[in-house]
Amino acid sequence: MDVLVTLDAMDRWTSSGGGSVGLVPTMGFLHDGHLSLVRRARGENDRVLVSIFVNPTQFGPSEDFEDYPRDTDRDCALLLAEGADAVFIPSVEDIYPAGFATSVTVSGPLTERLCGASRPTHFAGVTTVVARLFGVTRPDRAYFGQKDAQQLAVIRRMTADLALPVEVVGCPIVREPDGLAMSSRNVYLSNDERAQALTLRESLLLAQRRVTAGIRDASALRDEIVGLVARQALLRLDYVEFVHGETLDPVDTLSGQVLLALAAFVGRTRLIDNATLQVDE
Ligand code: PAF
Repeated sequence: MDVLVTLDAMDRWTSSGGGSVGLVPTMGFLHDGHLSLVRRARGENDRVLVSIFVNPTQFGPSEDFEDYPRDTDRDCALLLAEGADAVFIPSVEDIYPAGFATSVTVSGPLTERLCGASRPTHFAGVTTVVARLFGVTRPDRAYFGQKDAQQLAVIRRMTADLALPVEVVGCPIVREPDGLAMSSRNVYLSNDERAQALTLRESLLLAQRRVTAGIRDASALRDEIVGLVARQALLRLDYVEFVHGETLDPVDTLSGQVLLALAAFVGRTRLIDNATLQVDE
């Protein structure tokens, strides 16, 4: 596996090989969720490239950029075992060189609601770095997890709007055996916090059960989830919303496929989770 730590090395790698390239953009501290993206990319491309870059511009001023977990040696060992062809580990100066003056912003409700309401600068940071990574690595396909459902919708919008020649592939959420969605931030959780964090997944399962039982009123179901989360002393709900999976427009009466997305602080750690509810007509 090639370890590429400069833009020149990245450029040579792209120019030298043939065939299709699947890019898995990550911020490192890899878990099985990331590795599932690598496996999917492995199956669909001639060459698989993983980028590791903890992107400062997608963290708010009081967020965890400095503390974000990092272990590049372990990441490289995992990627080698998965058969990745190369890992790109740029510096901040490679991604944002002196004079860098561009911001790529998807504007409007897609970035203003859900996570965008409490993280107003987050998605501009994501779209700017992903656009830059697409430019620097020139992939044919790029792989993102459905756990970050809003991020996926925003990146799809950006890629379509800018006619970027990259196929964006969304991949299913990967969970711990007890149901907690995998996240690099799970390492922050104490045992008690981790136990209460399972309520997020329980809320999603409860919603699917209620829908199967015939409930169609999003607001009533929302209230029930708010109540469930409120019973956990270590949880503070940020949002729970029923929305259309692509537009993220709110849904009042559940029908067809509905994305149930939620975010909560577990102690000081902010976690997100979601499920696509299947609502019989
Ligand atoms: O999902 C992530 O890990 C990041 O938001 C991404 C897409 C790598 C951009 O920094």
